[in-house]
Amino acid sequence: MRDQYGREINYLRISLTDRCNLRCGYCLGSGPVRWLPEETLLTDGELCAVVSAAAELGISRLKLTGGEPLLRPGLPELVRRLYEIPGIEDITLTTNGLLLPEQAEKLAEAGVSGVNISLDTLNRASYAALTGTDGLERVLEGLDAALCAGFSHVKVNCVSGEGITDRNPAEVAELARTRQVWVRYIETMPLGQGKNYAPVARAALMKELEERYGPLTPVNERGNGPAVYYSVPDFAGLVGFISPCSAPFCDGCNRLRLTADGWVKPCLQYQGTVNLRELLRAGASGEMLKAALSAAIRSKPKGHRFAEDQAQTGLERRGMSAIGG
Ligand code: GTP
Ligand code: 5AD
Ligand code: SF4
Repeated sequence: MRDQYGREINYLRISLTDRCNLRCGYCLGSGPVRWLPEETLLTDGELCAVVSAAAELGISRLKLTGGEPLLRPGLPELVRRLYEIPGIEDITLTTNGLLLPEQAEKLAEAGVSGVNISLDTLNRASYAALTGTDGLERVLEGLDAALCAGFSHVKVNCVSGEGITDRNPAEVAELARTRQVWVRYIETMPLGQGKNYAPVARAALMKELEERYGPLTPVNERGNGPAVYYSVPDFAGLVGFISPCSAPFCDGCNRLRLTADGWVKPCLQYQGTVNLRELLRAGASGEMLKAALSAAIRSKPKGHRFAEDQAQTGLERRGMSAIGG
């Protein structure tokens, strides 16, 4: 289905839980967190009902996110059920990687085609300071487990904001030098604790990478998302950039979001427009779900307002972990 600006909406990001086993400074931060009550999370059956309705409207690709999606019990089985829905062609997921050592193989067997792993530094102490957990070794093990499991794409997400922690983001590109990994630099967005860290623009990072590794050359590779990619001399993988502020991509937006508690979000930065959990639990039919989803697609905003006053009504107040990124 197309939205009012002619954009084809074929991709749904599903947050499977708002819970996370890390506390990144730019996301949840270290303060108290109020998690969603368990009974408000969509069940596997409810998720499948929503995805069936979405598939009838042309959604063919799913991204499973969190919080941390690997915390959701029975994830491989859910992935299998989602693939049984006619029209669903591709399922990928975005994880912090801590639980990948034990889950990568099962997820690949269930058909997950790619994983994106959040990793902002290769320094053990900086990782612990940023995330609140001494987990760098586990994430690196998870990355290797993902590479061995045979996913067609393994990507790394490196968030770049001013003063996030004492680290050098350019260093993370090392992962793409020696491995078939696409390392993407993401400008911080003013959601959750991300409000406290001004984004580092793409140009500054490119300059730093070029000084370190040589010229970056644009390549035609695209994932399902907003990243643009470059090759680097002697690199096995690629580097990429997701730059909503310095290089906005809303004109090409292809997506809708579903939060763990059932809100449909037409745009990352706007509040949900309809709660499908409430509809489902009131006995809504597949046709009613489809009507709610198509209304959400029709109401999709033209683009984000990261540069404007964040107190405007209608803008998202929840953090990335509750939205799913
Ligand atoms: P693939 O490259 O296809 O795997 O997808 P992706 O890059 O969209 O997925 P991922 O979940 O790894 O997201 C990476 C970063 O891009 C996160 O910081 C997301 O918040 C951000 N992002 C994903 N989709 C959007 C979007 O529609 N708008 C904005 N502004 N940011 C997005
Ligand atoms: N700005 C940009 N990216 C963020 N992420 C979490 N919070 C923010 C933010 N405020 C990233 C995570 C993860 C992805 C889903 O979103 O690092 O890789
Ligand atoms: Fe789409 Fe909104 Fe993301 Fe822009 S900010 S790409 S409109 S979801």
